Amino acid sequence: MHSVRVHDKNFELYLPESQILARVQAMAEQINADYQGEDVLLLPILNGAYIFAADLIRSLEFQPSLQFVKISTYGDSMTSSRQVRDSFGLNKLKVKDRHVLIIEDIIDTGFTSGYLRAYLTQQAPASVKVATCLYKPDAFKGKTKPEYVGFEIPDFFVIGYGLDYAQKGRELRGIYKPEEKNE
Ligand code: IMP
Ligand code: MG
Repeated sequence: MHSVRVHDKNFELYLPESQILARVQAMAEQINADYQGEDVLLLPILNGAYIFAADLIRSLEFQPSLQFVKISTYGDSMTSSRQVRDSFGLNKLKVKDRHVLIIEDIIDTGFTSGYLRAYLTQQAPASVKVATCLYKPDAFKGKTKPEYVGFEIPDFFVIGYGLDYAQKGRELRGIYKPEEKNE
């Protein structure tokens, strides 16, 4: 499927499934090398990261623990006025002295992962890092860049592979970007 309409917009294929899976495998190999023999807690952020997390975890060669967390933010993504509206799973986490790897679908401003990083760091984990499928360096306003990045992409809105446009498009196997000519 090279082109798809979601709500009011046309999207075209940007990263095909085969390219994503090859890249996720390469990321997993790097993570395997870095975390060999450690006690690792994976924290995928719902909703978007569930597909990336499922592919990544099945290529890991150690035995991580896994806990999904949810963080919803509101506010203007272009300014630093964003706030956390809602979260779940955070207060149950036991991270002291453990290696924590946050798993994101996409890092845009970096607000969500930055918030979680700061929250966890207060609880004295052995380490906190971020693995993201997609990263928009031009939109990033955070302090610490993600340690593991699948693809750096320009600052446009993408869907598919777990990512949604107003809750639609998560099921697409590839990653899609807006068509140049929309309407
Ligand atoms: P951040 O807090 O600005 O880094 O944004 C992170 C969250 O915004 C992601 O986890 C996504 O849920 C959402 N998001 C940011 N950019 C996109 C995009 O291009 N497509 C779909 N969702 C996005
Ligand atoms: Mg998300």
